[in-house]
Amino acid sequence: MVMAPLPQPWPHWPFLSLFLILFSCESNLHCRNGVEATQRVFLYPQSPKVSSIVSKAYRTGYHFQPPKNWINDPNGPMYYNGIYHEFYQYNPNGSVWGNIVWGHSVSTDLINWIRLEPAIEGTTPSDINGCWTGSATILTDDQPVIIYTGADTEKRQVQNIVLPKNRSDPYLREWSKPKNNPLIQPVGPGLNSNQFRDPTTGWIGPDGLWRIAVGSELNGYSAALLYKSKDFMQWTRVDHPLYSSNASNMWECPDFFAVLPGKNNGLDLSAAIPNGAKHVLKMSLDYCDKYMIGVYDLKRDMFVPDTILDDRRLWLRIDYGNYYASKSFFDSNKGRRIIWGWTNETDSTSDDVAKGWAGIHAIPRTIWLDGDGKRLLQWPVEEVESLRRNEVNHQGIELKKGDLFEIKGTDALQADVEIDFELTSIDAADPFDPSWLLDTEKHCREADASVHGGVGPFGLVVLASDNMDEHTTVHFRVYKSEQKYIVLLCSDLRRSSLRPGMHTPAYGGFFEYDLEKEKKISLRTLIDRSAVESFGGGGRACIMARVYPTATVDGATHMYAFNNGSSTVKVSQLKAWSMRRAQVNVKKG
Ligand code: FRU
Repeated sequence: MVMAPLPQPWPHWPFLSLFLILFSCESNLHCRNGVEATQRVFLYPQSPKVSSIVSKAYRTGYHFQPPKNWINDPNGPMYYNGIYHEFYQYNPNGSVWGNIVWGHSVSTDLINWIRLEPAIEGTTPSDINGCWTGSATILTDDQPVIIYTGADTEKRQVQNIVLPKNRSDPYLREWSKPKNNPLIQPVGPGLNSNQFRDPTTGWIGPDGLWRIAVGSELNGYSAALLYKSKDFMQWTRVDHPLYSSNASNMWECPDFFAVLPGKNNGLDLSAAIPNGAKHVLKMSLDYCDKYMIGVYDLKRDMFVPDTILDDRRLWLRIDYGNYYASKSFFDSNKGRRIIWGWTNETDSTSDDVAKGWAGIHAIPRTIWLDGDGKRLLQWPVEEVESLRRNEVNHQGIELKKGDLFEIKGTDALQADVEIDFELTSIDAADPFDPSWLLDTEKHCREADASVHGGVGPFGLVVLASDNMDEHTTVHFRVYKSEQKYIVLLCSDLRRSSLRPGMHTPAYGGFFEYDLEKEKKISLRTLIDRSAVESFGGGGRACIMARVYPTATVDGATHMYAFNNGSSTVKVSQLKAWSMRRAQVNVKKG
């Protein structure tokens, strides 16, 4: 067992807020999303051919990405006749946003992907300026259909459909556009034709009619507009939205699905929904994916949240890091619900041009509702475990305040790590201040891994250089709030790279945890060169992050478990694996 003292104090980043202000409009993450969708600047539609060591070192080994160019949102994921389909917003001409078509890949295991030709390209007046986000639905006669947003000749956002040309082609390579597109136009009082996009998967209501929701702004406020149809061709707008809120404006990429508390089997929204099921409305805004849990009131044809929070900073989040525009689907193959999300680069646009690629998708995650019905849980799909090799296993390591334990024998650049931290005592937990919930990133910066607490910080240090000049920490702190325990998961990127110009926040999310009962907090982290994807407390809080350590290029990185809280924590179980490279879009089908 190798123990070393934790460097004290860990360096702070005094210019962070100034840096963020200066950086925010250089960063794709901050400039690409949201209301700017129609006014995006096409900086370098054709990437110059630059070969650089950087491009190879930071490409991920098992996260989804095409061989080159820009990607954003996952689109129309589905399982059909034995094949998983993943479509995605793709710029065929360069590594910045623009010229958007639907890239298309297929898989039998959600991990290894075959790249196909784009499925939808802008060829008609109703999508000539872009084929934007949408969803797949499998109609009752086993007919797949995709509904997507087109930017039309006047750059208005309209909804179109495509159907497979040949249903017996196992890969559904070619899609045709019916003559009557666009099927839905941005007409009606209060609608804004520039804020009307990203239709959901369809579901059948009790009247046998199909429904979809479209992300929009209604009289300046956010709404998931509801449309009905008999045949998926002719649509009428229902006179009230599925749900709307005046706490925010435009909602991109709404997603609507049913879940059963405490059961990790998924539900198909068009099938009979069992008693006790809850519904989830997810929306993308403020550079992150938020959600509400509630019920679908069939009589009123409306989503009714269990709790309405006026301050949208308090809304629950699918992921507390760099994760946007997610979309879920019911996987009839394994009876689970799977969610995919987009993770942008956090280097500069000029780096993206130099690399020739930008954007990855997070590992597909199984998603379900916690037993108390209050929070979604997520876990990487089990198929990712097929990439594990060289298991390293430790038990019963005691970490006292300041201890650092090196996890050796694993490829620290491409790894999967699972740790159970057993709390020897929770009496020393510091008191919780609810105002932290309003800005968890600020709290993670202030109470970083160098700041001793009663219980925590403890967790992982990943992608660390020999002398710790570069490292990323993923760690917990435990707080006490009246009779409850609140756990904080942070992913602190402020020392993740010595390269200048990176966006390096300290992400954070809180979750309630019954520590009287549980006694253990688990952390799973998937490390994939420039991706650090973490699942805290069995998937109660997830944080996806992008990092660009120079040590990745040199190939010398380390990984540690640590504790810096006054209570000793015991690593009751630690398993780490090197991860094989997956076959992601290397083959053309
Ligand atoms: C979300 C989004 C969607 C839009 C698409 C365009 O990232 O802005 O609202 O349809 O990207 O690429």
